[in-house]
Amino acid sequence: MEKNRRTLLASRPVGMPVAENFRLEEAPLPLPAEGEVLVHVDLISLDPAMRGWMNEGTTYMRGVALGEVMRAFGAGRVLASRHADFAEGDYVSGLTGVQTHACLPGQQLTRLDLSLGPLEWHLGVLGMPGMTAYFGLLERGQPKAGETVFIAGAAGIIGATVGQIAKIKGCRAVGTAGSEEKCRYLVEECGFDGAINYKTENIEARLKALCPKGIDVLYDNVGGDILDIGLAHLARGARVVICGAISQYNEPQMRGPRNYMKIVTARATLTGIIVFDFQERYSEAIAQLSEWLKNGQLRTRTDFVEGIENFYPALMKLYTGTNFGKVVLKI
Ligand SMILES: NC(=O)c1ccc[n+]([C@@H]2O[C@H](COP(=O)([O-])OP(=O)(O)OC[C@H]3O[C@@H](n4cnc5c(N)ncnc54)[C@H](OP(=O)(O)O)[C@@H]3O)[C@@H](O)[C@H]2O)c1
Repeated sequence: MEKNRRTLLASRPVGMPVAENFRLEEAPLPLPAEGEVLVHVDLISLDPAMRGWMNEGTTYMRGVALGEVMRAFGAGRVLASRHADFAEGDYVSGLTGVQTHACLPGQQLTRLDLSLGPLEWHLGVLGMPGMTAYFGLLERGQPKAGETVFIAGAAGIIGATVGQIAKIKGCRAVGTAGSEEKCRYLVEECGFDGAINYKTENIEARLKALCPKGIDVLYDNVGGDILDIGLAHLARGARVVICGAISQYNEPQMRGPRNYMKIVTARATLTGIIVFDFQERYSEAIAQLSEWLKNGQLRTRTDFVEGIENFYPALMKLYTGTNFGKVVLKI
């Protein structure tokens, strides 16, 4: 009889997660109650935010409890449905958790249209990260043609998508990434005007050269030193969008920006984004992003890892930068 294989949060990480923070176990297959849907999870999304979910307490979401299935977005096929909106064979996404089978209330699932792109795109460019890039840049960043958009952490799914949307909107796009190969990808495949290898180059000197008129929209995925250097180069009236701070997630104490007085002198605004606030407009973003994907104006990359037993190494790719593209675990 088939079993559910699931990964639990066994202990809370202190600093970088270690393999022992997670435990893989087998459990009987869940049975859908009235209103629920049983999903075979084909793909699991690895997201930087998972580190925050491993902590106790609540930020924009409560922390995962010890012994609970690790939270994750996933996508897969409906095996059985007791919800009128879903039928066996439908493809859906939702917060399935890190497990092979998930039973969820129908209202927590999204039906996927695979004619828009392969299943993995629905966890990436057409899923939560794509929505974050779209609304984070366009609604919070308010870019105008001719402006310069600087993306800290540009080679990830969100950063690369933000830069390409900025180009579509007639802006100059410059970003940072952690390897030559990623920098080449940004310029040669994603059409960025420049990319800075923050591990080997003088970020400040390169930023000055690549953004001679200063930064109009600073889209920050990273925090720490790169945010500080970016702030120092804001143009008058700049918009700073804080999307994430991956350089700080595994630090015992998050470090805030030092150059924040530049917000005053540049008459800038600093704002945050939580993608879920735009949920009612996801269909608009999906329609636009899939059109750009179809006509070749937008490109995306997936970094597949095979097997639920490899959840931990897949997760660590994000915090070590050894991923290249959206990290997805294939079940
Ligand atoms: N606000 C929201 O609603 C929302 C929603 C989703 C995601 N986010 C945030 O958006 C950001 C981007 O997410 P994503 O899914 O596209 O992930 P991502 O940018 O691909 O994150 C992984 C990448 O971060 C970089 N990185 C890791 N450690 C770093 C460090 N210490 N310093 C600098 N860079 C480091 C690595 O790239 P390199 O090789 O270039 O170093 C790695 O490949 C994250 O901060 C995430 O938490 C926010």
